[in-house]
Amino acid sequence: MPLNVGMKALVYHGPKDIRCDDVANPDPASTDGAVVRITHAGICGSDLHIYEGHGWAEPGFTTGHEAVGEIVETGSGVRRFRSGDRVLVSGAAACATCLPCGQGRIDLCTSGGASVFGIGLGLSGSQSEAIGVPAADRTLAAIPEGMTEEQALMLTDNLPTGWFGARRADIQPGATVAVIGLGPVGQHAVESALVQGAARVLALDPVAERRTAAAAVGAEPIEIDEHTSARVAEATGGRGVDAVIEAVGRLDAIRLALEVAGPGATISIVGVPESADLSVPAVLLQARNQTLRLSLCPVQSTWPALVPLVVSGRLHPERVITTRLTLDRGSEAYARFHDRREGILKVVLHP
Ligand SMILES: NC(=O)c1ccc[n+]([C@@H]2O[C@H](COP(=O)([O-])OP(=O)(O)OC[C@H]3O[C@@H](n4cnc5c(N)ncnc54)[C@H](O)[C@@H]3O)[C@@H](O)[C@H]2O)c1
Ligand SMILES: [Zn+2]
Ligand SMILES: [Zn+2]
Repeated sequence: MPLNVGMKALVYHGPKDIRCDDVANPDPASTDGAVVRITHAGICGSDLHIYEGHGWAEPGFTTGHEAVGEIVETGSGVRRFRSGDRVLVSGAAACATCLPCGQGRIDLCTSGGASVFGIGLGLSGSQSEAIGVPAADRTLAAIPEGMTEEQALMLTDNLPTGWFGARRADIQPGATVAVIGLGPVGQHAVESALVQGAARVLALDPVAERRTAAAAVGAEPIEIDEHTSARVAEATGGRGVDAVIEAVGRLDAIRLALEVAGPGATISIVGVPESADLSVPAVLLQARNQTLRLSLCPVQSTWPALVPLVVSGRLHPERVITTRLTLDRGSEAYARFHDRREGILKVVLHP
């Protein structure tokens, strides 16, 4: 069924001001692109940085980069999909033709690089009734039998990021891992670390119910206060952990990640740093032969591992979803997710 003329989408108007507005439909699909009618859209912790006013673009753009829906139109060059297919849309797109993009490594794209949906820099947002998707053969994935739409939504950004953060933490079988920040990304990092071979995962967050959610999948919860480092030291016989995944982006959380890391540890940062400058204790890192990595997740590259892990029930990404609201309640959804009120962990919007 074609789209109606005119639609609703969430639009960034300024700090703490995201509203559901009338906007124009997406342009007709480009040769390699598709138009997707959205049924499920997530709000990511990265959207909260925009909401707080730390975005990169002037107000007036549509927001969101997590979407699941149905294809309503494809360009003549699209090979793998057609109208009516149920798909998940990666949070970012690049070309569909270069060698790295063919392997999902859109971060290494050799013809123009990757762009994220809904941050005001090119691609429009998916907290919307419909979206135009470039390079559809690589930006979309079919929702396989045995996967729910809510599971598929978690494969557009949050689970891939937790998984990639864990992969970049060099987790060895039997390792003790700390995950700092237990929003959706951190929760997925906890499960990913366990699936990747960690024996123990210490789960650190100031919000009690988020620690409880991590404990429910096998992590050891640790509060955030002035004694946190001492608690991690005690829990690891004074050594510190073998690997850290940081999923907050605040400088105090990054500092904590460096503090709890043991000798030889890898510290993998996926939280988007709140400041462009990061000062690190370089001599200490060197003396302890530690590795520090910052990563932006190439979502598509994680699907070959994650789709079977979700379908087989080894990972349960949908467990983070606590709240389902219609798109026209987008302002309220942002405010509640931002304030971490009422046990909210992940919001799904339904256009
Ligand atoms: N690198 C990537 O590719 C990528 C992709 C998606 C999201 N992100 C980033 O990952 C981060 C997490 O995303 P999310 O959706 O889980 O967001 P979120 O806001 O739901 O989660 C952040 C968590 O950090 C906790 N926290 C706050 N201060 C803390 C502190 N000092 N120490 C420990 N925990 C603290 C909060 O209580 C919250 O649970 C964000 O910075 C987001 O921008 C990065
Ligand atoms: Zn995101
Ligand atoms: Zn490319």
